[in-house]
Amino acid sequence: MKILVTGGTGYIGSHTVLSLQEAGHDVVVIDNLVNSSEESLRRVAELSGKEAEFHNVDLVDEAAVEQVFAGAGIDAVIHFAGLKAVGESVREPLKYYYNNLVGTLNLIRVMDRHDVRSFVFSSSATVYGEHNPIPYVEKMEIGANNPYGRTKEQIEDILSDLGDADPRWHIALLRYFNPVGAHPSGRIGEDPQGIPNNLVPFIAQVAVGRREKLMVFGGDYDTPDGTCLRDYIHVEDLAEGHVAALNYVAGRAGVFRWNLGSGRGSSVLEVLRSFEKAVGEPIPYEITERRAGDLPAFWADAASALADLGWSTTKTVDQMCEDHWRWQKNNPQGYAS
Ligand code: NAD
Ligand code: UD1
Repeated sequence: MKILVTGGTGYIGSHTVLSLQEAGHDVVVIDNLVNSSEESLRRVAELSGKEAEFHNVDLVDEAAVEQVFAGAGIDAVIHFAGLKAVGESVREPLKYYYNNLVGTLNLIRVMDRHDVRSFVFSSSATVYGEHNPIPYVEKMEIGANNPYGRTKEQIEDILSDLGDADPRWHIALLRYFNPVGAHPSGRIGEDPQGIPNNLVPFIAQVAVGRREKLMVFGGDYDTPDGTCLRDYIHVEDLAEGHVAALNYVAGRAGVFRWNLGSGRGSSVLEVLRSFEKAVGEPIPYEITERRAGDLPAFWADAASALADLGWSTTKTVDQMCEDHWRWQKNNPQGYAS
């Protein structure tokens, strides 16, 4: 198939472009490079031996999106493009609602006009909110508690309404848990701008000497070691989950929801120990205040993706840390190295 990947120069997108090319698909990428660099695609091409067609386009520009589709023969779309920093979304909600919602609406309107109706969407475990028991199951009532999460929830609602109204749509809503790691070559990986918000990129920057120490946000939670539990998933497993979801929905109309997670929780200190093993040295840290909005623990019920897609995670937290470290060590300043 010829697959359009929005956000394809970003962290998860670039790994998915590689998986798609390895599965024999042709790939067209749209990205406005607001949080990524085209260098990722050059490296993906080096690894796959295939070039993706790249368009530097902002999804909020509907006419520009229309031009990409015109005569391109696109069969399906995987939609990663969006802003994703929770804290920033609380400070600048309009920026998030405008970018994520308008970008998605433009994209699906253009798809509809071009009779392209197979769609895979990057949702997030954050849609489960604070009210659900763990593990999270797809049938639970969703309800996010920050503007970023609400953009994911609202886009899920829009896509569900669309699929219900028009049986020609084939839609997968993929709820990711905590993606970490990098391609084992160390050539592509996560390249956060500024101070990383997420745990593993922060640890990696401490390990490489860019930051002094890790602040562990809270050591007094009701968990085995007092730190929060999360369901970490290797970005390569996540990328393979997209290929599996795409294959499934390509053959079936409807709206499908899958958790992409391992079904296991790991604590902050367990992840830190795994990363130390990868580096071969202790990593300085300090236990500090809890971070506002953090939940003590959540992980996926991963049974549906296994039953429907035959997909499950294959890589351990140790492997995630080894691969993440190889990428960081070889590219201390990310793609700018
Ligand atoms: P990323 O920032 O690396 O990738 C997103 C890409 O979208 C970037 O390359 C950015 O330049 C592009 N983009 C943003 N707005 C755009 C617009 N208007 N037009 C064109 N391009 C635009 O992030 P990622 O970690 O690869 O995440 C990909 C998707 O997965 C996002 O939708 C994110 O919300 C979702 N997600 C990520 C995580 C995570 O922890 N990384 C977890 C759950 C869900
Ligand atoms: C974050 C996002 C969430 C998103 C998820 C998946 C927030 C509030 N939530 O959640 O919307 O779906 O990523 O990627 O940003 N930690 C530290 N020190 C740090 C960084 C993190 O101790 O410097 C801890 C956190 O308290 C948490 C764990 O590490 O317990 C994981 O944090 P993080 O990587 O930010 O992911 P989530 O909190 O799960």
